[in-house]
Amino acid sequence: MCVSSQVLSTMRIKSAVLYLSKIWYLATGLLISLTGVASAQTEIIPVLTRQNAVVLQVTPAKQVTMIYLGKKLAREQDYSLVQAQYKKGSDISGIFNSAYTPSGSRNLVEPAISVTHADGNPSLNLEYVSHYTKQIDNGISLTGIILKDPVYAFEVTLFYKAYYNEDVLEQWAVIKHREKGKVILQKYASANLYLQGSNFWLKQYHGNWAREMQPEEAQLTHGIKVIDTKLGTRANLYEPSAFMVSVGKPATEDEGQVLYGAVEWSGNFKIDLELDALDNLRVIAGINNYASAYELKAAEEFATPALLYTFSATGKGNASRQLQRWARKYRILDGQGSRLTLLNNWEATKFNFDETKLKELIHDTKKLGVDLFLLDDGWFGNQYPRNNDKTGLGDWQENKQKLPNGIGTIIQQATREGVKFGIWVEPEMVNPKSQLYSRHPDWVVKQPQRPEQYQRNQLVLDLSNPKVQDFVFSIVDTLFSKYPQLAYIKWDCNAVIFNAYSNYQKQQSNFYVGYVRGLYRVWERIRAKYPKVPMMLCSGGGARVDYAALKYFTEFWPSDNTDPLERIFLQWEYSYFYPAIASANHVTDWGKQPLKYRVDVAMMGKLGFDIAVNKLSATDLKFCQDALLAYKTVQHTIWHGDQYRLVDPWENNIASVMYMDSTRSNGVVFNYLVRNRYGSASQLPVRFKGLDATKSYRIQEINLYPGAKPALKDQILSGDFLMEVGFNPIVTVARTSVVLKITDTAVK
Ligand code: GLA
Repeated sequence: MCVSSQVLSTMRIKSAVLYLSKIWYLATGLLISLTGVASAQTEIIPVLTRQNAVVLQVTPAKQVTMIYLGKKLAREQDYSLVQAQYKKGSDISGIFNSAYTPSGSRNLVEPAISVTHADGNPSLNLEYVSHYTKQIDNGISLTGIILKDPVYAFEVTLFYKAYYNEDVLEQWAVIKHREKGKVILQKYASANLYLQGSNFWLKQYHGNWAREMQPEEAQLTHGIKVIDTKLGTRANLYEPSAFMVSVGKPATEDEGQVLYGAVEWSGNFKIDLELDALDNLRVIAGINNYASAYELKAAEEFATPALLYTFSATGKGNASRQLQRWARKYRILDGQGSRLTLLNNWEATKFNFDETKLKELIHDTKKLGVDLFLLDDGWFGNQYPRNNDKTGLGDWQENKQKLPNGIGTIIQQATREGVKFGIWVEPEMVNPKSQLYSRHPDWVVKQPQRPEQYQRNQLVLDLSNPKVQDFVFSIVDTLFSKYPQLAYIKWDCNAVIFNAYSNYQKQQSNFYVGYVRGLYRVWERIRAKYPKVPMMLCSGGGARVDYAALKYFTEFWPSDNTDPLERIFLQWEYSYFYPAIASANHVTDWGKQPLKYRVDVAMMGKLGFDIAVNKLSATDLKFCQDALLAYKTVQHTIWHGDQYRLVDPWENNIASVMYMDSTRSNGVVFNYLVRNRYGSASQLPVRFKGLDATKSYRIQEINLYPGAKPALKDQILSGDFLMEVGFNPIVTVARTSVVLKITDTAVK
């Protein structure tokens, strides 16, 4: 469908009611001034995507309200009739559904913005001034709505960036003022949504180290449910900002109305979900204002990060595919490109290696058949050698004992063997036992008068300080300058912020925001100079994954927990929000499952290994080598295809996940036994999705362990059969993991 014809002409329509009343006035010949009618005109501002609409309305009192969020209606003029259909009682403030709720004036509920003006007055009213919609790229439009306080020189512009084909929106606000003095922003959300209906179900996530992305789903009750973090760095350790709200009843994979949201911010965030007195749901999301009242100078602009959201009227599966498509096309670095398979040494060696060992590992990398060797923690520090996690962090010079000839000699070895080389860094952090700490104590985040509080024996550097930003940038820049062949970076972050205090900031409450902005400045600089080098976002596992950071990263590390059984659940949940191409999955010795099971699970994303290759039996090695070749035949589909979660491991004895390319010709289905009760097996056929019903498909089992007898013969079945009846992968206690390749028989 042509985008320009569909979207975004902002229109000025009078509500049907006003229109009729005007006719009536004219018809009765009453001599009244129409000025009143004209000023009571209601402006409708629709923000449209291919399937959905977010519709705003300007009230006669110049308040901008959200009157609709859901599946697009057939006739644009019908949005003005929506409100009249709800008879849920009265809202005496008139702005429960404010598009950006101010505080201290007429508002009675949770605000999106709250300020103290330069003269100390804490009230704010935001009135509509104007709006526009423009096409900013093929398939992308931007709507801006300008709001002003009628009393103070204070202005907010609300932005709605609509990705038409992907049905995804990014929404943020830009705040500025021209008051005589500083204004304190007490709260400054990115977005304020309003969902009407009855019964809202929230699916949220909680976790901790090695148990990230644990889901919980519950009906929202009256009052405010808050999802937030105050950790500063490693922001997602206890909960990420990713959430879903189902309307009416919990959406399933293929049914129900559901809104997905996530804040594009790598620091403290806060999401308020308030079920109001009319039983409607107010969602207010953005930076957490905890300890973060922000001092804003006159004429300075404060741009909030965006709230990312998508709506689906056909269940969670569709919503996640929309988000995954958007992420690959518009957000994740090189989201439409390819990825490197690798061998990492962390699980196999920890800190215990030297030049000879690394050269052996490079050789193993080649033998295994992966693209790259990734050298993990432990390669740096001299006065305080990094031989454990207590010392050396911050001193980014090669350790002379382990690497007397530097990294260069290892890279040369890699080049000789025909593999690439990557390296681990954790540049935001410092061990107190380091030269960096002794030289620059003022760069460290800590309270001057309190004892230091550590996580993993380390502290966080003050990235709100430009000098620290220069230092952090220089760590990566020096590595690339010295070793231009460097082909991969793993960027880690293993401590939260305790004792938040910056020696640099004059206003301490600007620190948390300043930290994240400083971090983005560093990543911007790295990407300006090294635009393409793949980088993995890691944070002692998956404690930092969000769509602001992924602009700079090609992939993320979901968890240090690589037990494949655990991973099935973790990767299942991550997949609601992130595409497989971004999920770095490594085969390790965690868990009790056979090697095949571990490799199959790691294949559902970007495959890597973190095992002692020299300890593999000849058959295990052969299996891994063959699996890497098999992966090459399906990786394109996994990385770029549509993902379907077919059988839910939370509710069944098996899990089944499918990827299908956009031509509906090539697919792959991963099936696993996830419970070991007597007789557990795939008793029912697994119904495939996303196929073309009219096509015939060949089903082949791939990735068999050498010598294993295939339980399945290659078969040709119709798309219709596979989607209506399904196919049994014969998962049993003897075959706990089964990978099926699907190919359109017409494809040569
Ligand atoms: C974190 C990462 C691990 C590893 C170690 C190294 O815990 O998540 O993968 O890199 O740091 O110290």
